[in-house]
Amino acid sequence: MVGFTVTTHSPEQTRRLGQVIGGLARGNDLYLLKGNLGTGKTHLVQGIAFGLGIDEYACSPSFMIAREYHGRLPLYHLDLYRLDHIEEIAGLGLDEYFRDDSVCAIEWAEKGAPVLPGDNLTIRLTHLPGEKRNISFIPHGNRYDELVDRLKISLQNNGEDTWNLL
Ligand SMILES: Nc1ncnc2c1ncn2[C@@H]1O[C@H](COP(=O)(O)OP(=O)(O)OP(=O)(O)O)[C@@H](O)[C@H]1O
Ligand SMILES: [Mg+2]
Repeated sequence: MVGFTVTTHSPEQTRRLGQVIGGLARGNDLYLLKGNLGTGKTHLVQGIAFGLGIDEYACSPSFMIAREYHGRLPLYHLDLYRLDHIEEIAGLGLDEYFRDDSVCAIEWAEKGAPVLPGDNLTIRLTHLPGEKRNISFIPHGNRYDELVDRLKISLQNNGEDTWNLL
């Protein structure tokens, strides 16, 4: 399990980062996004949606728990922000969103930790001064080791000179 961290410098760059992830996504992928309010989780998921070929704007599901988008693969975008009790999260029937033929991204995944699958790509976002954000990728499981390796290579090769890979 070796992860890495990227610094993005604008909301648009966070979207472009998501877009690279969306291009690498496979069925059954699970991305757990963790981080404070306004760190850019929704922007990253919007980018993932674009990378999956979804052109409909993925607006923040702040009062919806789950949204479904249709691209190269379906994307389930979940947000656990409004759920305060693990029983509520356990009662959502999350298994329905973990499918071989779709991708699932969950904001505020820290709230659901005890009931979420151990195999996942954890994405931790933190504020830096101004418009900078640190975005760390932590793989859990073989698929995500591979995904993180591929993501790093894609970012190194995509010509954007401001990725600050650590
Ligand atoms: N580098 C950056 N990446 C992403 N967003 C940024 C960045 N710099 C500034 N921002 C701003 O931070 C906010 C991020 O909003 P976003 O809804 O994506 O965050 P979030 O983590 O999903 O928040 P919430 O916890 O409320 O769901 C936006 O207002 C965006 O313009
Ligand atoms: Mg959000």
